[in-house]
Amino acid sequence: MKKILDCIAEELKAAFAVCGYDAGYGKVTLSNRPDLCEYQCNGAMAAAKAYRKKPIDIAGEVVARLKGADMFSEVNAVMPGFINLRLSGEYLAAYLNRMRAEDKLGVEDTGRDRTVIVDYGGANVAKPLHVGHLRTAIIGECIKRLGRFLGYHMIGDVHLGDWGLQMGLIIEELRDRQPELPYFDENYKGPYPEEAPFTIGELEEIYPAASARSKADEAFKARAQEATFRLQNGYGPYRAIWKHIMNVSLADLKKNYASLGVTFDLWKGESDAQPYIPGLIQDLQERGLAYESEGALVVDIAQEGDSKELPPCIIRKSDGAALYATSDLGTIIEREKDYRPDQYIYITDKRQELHFIQVFRVAKKAGYVKPETPMIHMMCGTMNGKDGKPFKTREGGVMRLEKLVKEIDGAVYDRIMENRTMTPEEAENTARIIGLAALKYGDLSNQVSKDYVFDIERFTSFEGNTGPYILYTIVRIKSILARYEENGGRAEVVDILPPDSEEAKNLMLKLSACNEVLESAFAETAPHKICQFIYELSDAFGSFYNSTMILKEEDETKKAGYIQLITLVKEVLETCIDLLGFEAPERM
Ligand code: ARG
Repeated sequence: MKKILDCIAEELKAAFAVCGYDAGYGKVTLSNRPDLCEYQCNGAMAAAKAYRKKPIDIAGEVVARLKGADMFSEVNAVMPGFINLRLSGEYLAAYLNRMRAEDKLGVEDTGRDRTVIVDYGGANVAKPLHVGHLRTAIIGECIKRLGRFLGYHMIGDVHLGDWGLQMGLIIEELRDRQPELPYFDENYKGPYPEEAPFTIGELEEIYPAASARSKADEAFKARAQEATFRLQNGYGPYRAIWKHIMNVSLADLKKNYASLGVTFDLWKGESDAQPYIPGLIQDLQERGLAYESEGALVVDIAQEGDSKELPPCIIRKSDGAALYATSDLGTIIEREKDYRPDQYIYITDKRQELHFIQVFRVAKKAGYVKPETPMIHMMCGTMNGKDGKPFKTREGGVMRLEKLVKEIDGAVYDRIMENRTMTPEEAENTARIIGLAALKYGDLSNQVSKDYVFDIERFTSFEGNTGPYILYTIVRIKSILARYEENGGRAEVVDILPPDSEEAKNLMLKLSACNEVLESAFAETAPHKICQFIYELSDAFGSFYNSTMILKEEDETKKAGYIQLITLVKEVLETCIDLLGFEAPERM
């Protein structure tokens, strides 16, 4: 359904045109002086120059045309030439009632027939998930859900780091610990055991041990590099170990992501890109796009207008080893073949900025991706501790994701138990739901590219711009609705009625922006816009609630109208938090 701003602009445009001016001047925005009006049009100011008239005269003419229009309760021309607008309560109520009757709260299928690959998560196999992977998982999940809601065919791919040096490190560490394993017997001809020679617990210990060792022990590091190289060239016994690592690690990763409410359609990784790489390199060479430079194979990516000099993209190192960029290009070739996406969205730490500029430019330059296909890199800022440095454990190590989640759940649990209205068991379940909201909202409410401070105290607070505050609003509405029903209320009117107070109107105006907010949050890949919207909506609900006796209202029709209104608030909030990737508990 049409956005409310567009509906209003249509009226204004028609009025400008009738008065003999270009309709384009009828643009409308939300008012930046809510004390004076709800919406405003500044078109008369621009028209004044073109038509050599006083802005206030033009505004006055347009306003005269609009007086009496059903849409407005107030239309004023004010100096030097603003047009101030207030919507009529009837119009606003009708708009919301239409919104309720529509599927998806009046949000249109803007994405129909369009396929979007969202590449997020990016966990590295056999390495523990740590907070650095948190943002990309949370933001990606939200973008995927939001796009899907708008009708896009969203394909979420975790793009695992499953082809790097960590594999060689594990193989060599394993050789030293268990030399008797058949993988290390050159004469063994297979088949290799089905069972992995380690559990996830052991694997979690093996990798950091091997990684630490490689930093002190050059010979060990060289062995690990050699093993990685052999694995990448298809050496059977190492492929067998690699499969074990993948199976054991993937099961654990899936569990971890699931606990964050994060899922993927594809569990592909860098290894899946490898079959495409020889053809890719050959193609780039044959077409003269790639050339040798100091033993490496590179593609120039600098373009006219670049503000700084961008180094060429290295496709193959002098030692022949596979590279991160090459894997990403191979993956693009595979994605084009399998899905023909209309858009790509990658979500990673902002330190990968140059990498993605290089990959995108090579992909376009070589024509692997159509020139008009948007390739977006959402660059995440860092999650910092209170000291302003990347978040660490108390001991100064890298914080594991599981541990972080436990800490936040614990903090919420303590808060709930302060009031002691729940059994410890219910409190624990509720804390998990609220904890996830606190964590995700704490992240998503910031602009993606900005760093933010992870502040458990603030994130878990039930007041202010936090996840728990939004949940609290939903729970409060649920309880009003339940009491209404318990008292035999059967909403006699099914419609939202025109507002009878400033608070009701403000709440209704906020609601009417829902479709616009969701569409622009996706178009601008800006989840924080959804957070800002539901925060303001929750506040507007709070003021309405404080000023209105909803259940004590004696006029049953009016009461039923309120019930319809807050039901819509609940639906909008629930839809939005689902898009953000969390849910509300029954009580809190
Ligand atoms: N595994 C990478 C890392 O941990 C992130 C992968 C992001 N996706 C991509 N297509 N490169 O940094």
